[in-house]
Amino acid sequence: MPEVSGKKLTMVTCSAPVNIAVIKYWGKRDEELILPINSSLSVTLHQDQLKTTTTVACSRSFQEDRIWLNGKEEDITQPRLQSCLREIRCLSRKRRSDGEADVDAAGLSHKVHICSVNNFPTAAGLASSAAGYACLVYTLSRVMGVEGELSAVSRQGSGSACRSMYGGFVQWLMGQQGDGKDSLAQQVEPETHWPELRVLVLVVSAERKPVGSTSGMQTSVETSILLKHRADSVVPARMKEMIEAVHKRDFTAFAELTMKDSNQFHATCLDTYPPIFYLNDVSRRVINLVHRYNRHYRETKVAYTFDAGPNAVIYTLQQNVEEFVQVVKHFFPPETNGGHFLKGLPVAPTTLSEELKQAIGMEPMVKGICYIISTKAGPGPRVVEDPSEHLLGSDGLPKESA
Ligand code: DP6
Repeated sequence: MPEVSGKKLTMVTCSAPVNIAVIKYWGKRDEELILPINSSLSVTLHQDQLKTTTTVACSRSFQEDRIWLNGKEEDITQPRLQSCLREIRCLSRKRRSDGEADVDAAGLSHKVHICSVNNFPTAAGLASSAAGYACLVYTLSRVMGVEGELSAVSRQGSGSACRSMYGGFVQWLMGQQGDGKDSLAQQVEPETHWPELRVLVLVVSAERKPVGSTSGMQTSVETSILLKHRADSVVPARMKEMIEAVHKRDFTAFAELTMKDSNQFHATCLDTYPPIFYLNDVSRRVINLVHRYNRHYRETKVAYTFDAGPNAVIYTLQQNVEEFVQVVKHFFPPETNGGHFLKGLPVAPTTLSEELKQAIGMEPMVKGICYIISTKAGPGPRVVEDPSEHLLGSDGLPKESA
């Protein structure tokens, strides 16, 4: 065991996935506990392509809790970080007083050093806060000997983070209680359930989003009548239909519900006063492209969804991936770096029929899309066993590469 100033150092590294909602969470009924006004459902993406990695070290010699995110030290007093730390320490204390935890479970009276990195651009609308808080809570729980239900803790870091605590298809039940104890994430189906389902992240812009989701949804709750209608009268039925579509692997139903729910979420943004615009011209072109592609085949083969940013996330089945990627390349030609346009799971090039190109009939837009990440559904958080992958050195400070 490494030591700092002669004191024992406990260190754990974990990784956690991004998730992309197909029934969106937008709006809170309790800002502090992060309780939503509607349930939501997402697909956890594979960590081979998108993940956060976090190392937590714990030692009696540390003077204070500290955190480094993507190479930069950040303010640990931020309320949401404090909520997660407090909740995990509280669960650890409880386990210890119940005699369940390892007496040596570290960290109760000790301070922690936290170091976290993403393997994708932060705040580009790629749900980095979800993977980030899920990873933080999961890693803290391992260091402090806490087991069991943790989604109610990660929810207090960022609402959507509770869904990243599980792999596959995950629902976040809004719950009814004032204390939020029943506002939890649950796995609907594991990632192995629908192996043909594929995901393409079309990265439109890697810039920071103009209105963050936290403040955006707050204004929507205050001003949008459509949002209230959505939460009360649309989402409950849609959740049931979506769960059924997932159970049955019914792609047409899954895809149509996904697109309608994304469109309604962005409609509530427009109904917010002043309005919020997350979609840009490229996003709207992707929407048109998908509908024209599906119309050509008279079949819903591809679906889009957009979060609080312009990037499109495409859901489709494996047999359509090659052609649809070629369609994206054709209508959004990369300027020079054609070789780096496609990241993630390999996709073989193919040729498009003139008929299809004509049916889509759009003017190509050079550089509209920066790159595509090709991925699929994947598992929940995991412990990284290889000690060489720790992001903190034996002195408890970030390694050069972190
Ligand atoms: C559009 O979870 O980022 O991605 O709870 O305030 O941290 P906070 O918001 P956040 O909101 C995510 C909104 C969304 C839809 C979704 O993921 O369900």
